[in-house]
Amino acid sequence: MPTVVVVGAQWGDEGKGKVTDYLSAEADTVVRYQGGHNTGATVVVGDREYRLHLVPAGIIHGKKCVVGNGVALDPWAFVEERTQLAAQGLNVDRIYISDTAHVILPFHRLMDAAEEERRVGGKIGTTLRGVGPAYQDKAARIGIRVGDLVRPASLRARLAANLVHTNALLTTYGIAPAETEVLARELEQIAPQIAPHISDTATLINDAIDAGERVLFEGAQGTLLDIDHGTYPFVTSSHPTAGGACIGSGVGPSRIDRVVGVSKAYSTRVGDGPFPTELGDATGERLLRQGREFGTTTGRPRRCGWLDAVALRYAVQINGLSGVCITKLDTLTGISPLRIATAYQLDGSDLLRMPHDVESLARCVPIYEEIEGWDEDISGVRSPQDLPPNAQEYLRRLQALVGVPVLLVSVGAERAETMALRSVFSM
Ligand code: GDP
Ligand code: IMO
Ligand code: MG
Repeated sequence: MPTVVVVGAQWGDEGKGKVTDYLSAEADTVVRYQGGHNTGATVVVGDREYRLHLVPAGIIHGKKCVVGNGVALDPWAFVEERTQLAAQGLNVDRIYISDTAHVILPFHRLMDAAEEERRVGGKIGTTLRGVGPAYQDKAARIGIRVGDLVRPASLRARLAANLVHTNALLTTYGIAPAETEVLARELEQIAPQIAPHISDTATLINDAIDAGERVLFEGAQGTLLDIDHGTYPFVTSSHPTAGGACIGSGVGPSRIDRVVGVSKAYSTRVGDGPFPTELGDATGERLLRQGREFGTTTGRPRRCGWLDAVALRYAVQINGLSGVCITKLDTLTGISPLRIATAYQLDGSDLLRMPHDVESLARCVPIYEEIEGWDEDISGVRSPQDLPPNAQEYLRRLQALVGVPVLLVSVGAERAETMALRSVFSM
């Protein structure tokens, strides 16, 4: 039975939540492997809208949901989300949280804001959820892990050890130092709400694979926000790319069968950093409005631009994509001609690959190919051959430029507004 990793192929918000929900119908277990509540995924089913930040999108289909060791978990944010999902009628009893996932503490949020303010060379435009600082503590080996929440003695010892470093920083930032006992009590108050979910999730997932279950890994953020492979330093602090699925869940690479990338039919980016195909004109404004491009987590307007085949080819390479799922094709309706970046020009040379340094990337000028648009409303189309010929041509060109098959096309936010071209599990 196959295991499938779903990753964002761009800068996040590609519609991973919608695609994961759709694919979850055929899955048994769905795993989040990195990121925190910097993620915001909206899934629409009928007249219901679900907003997910930490819980995998498999929850809507009632599947087993795992929050893996690679996730940074804010316990208060988790409880709020669980309450919200339960109020919407979902069964939240089968959410399993790794005992080795790191915990986002209240001071991480303060540090996120303080570090953004002081950043030389411009802000990253983080979501200010404390996710980056929690990963900093993890890498500095002073983090608090979910399992510590239910071990009062070690919780206090680890908090005290952490605060030696954190308080030195907070004081420098002009923020009141944190106190071990105060923090420990706050955590002890929330811990009973987390405790029933705590689990050895690596064993749970590997056992599920052994038992022949279909396991989906749901990436958060996107390839170009990966801390190693993204547009550093304008990135998140974890590994949204496919390799992150192994590290962030405790499943070996030999057990992953397939990796699918999710991409919009155009490009967006929220936060700062280079974005070669960004449109600062009326077309960009139109994509923002037609695509309702406002962040699920922060409400910020997303920067919009043309589809970038250079960026997508990079995502194919870094993730070893088996294919791509294209979302929001409907947003392009009425815009003509459409453009796809096929290469970049930099200092008089044509580049087929993205440069790794943001200074060069920021100077890249996209080379575009034009394709005629269409005017028909496509949100009711359920079969690719019923799409207007120009929409079919757009997908054909996209597939040829990116070099892997289009597996799924989405033409609306609602679950049913989806066309599967091939089964991701049995391709
Ligand atoms: P994620 O973070 O990758 O899960 O993506 P988000 O949920 O943050 O952003 C995608 C947005 O587009 C959400 O509001 C979805 O409801 C919406 N969406 C997803 N697919 C489609 C589509 O095919 N058409 C339209 N119009 N909206 C879509
Ligand atoms: P989903 O899962 C889009 C961006 C932020 C900022 C950078 C670092 O919904 O696709 P962070 O708070 O992670 O330290 O911010 O990363 N970012 C996202 N952009 N979608 C997301 O998640 C994002 N999560 C973080 O805007 O530029
Ligand atoms: Mg999102």
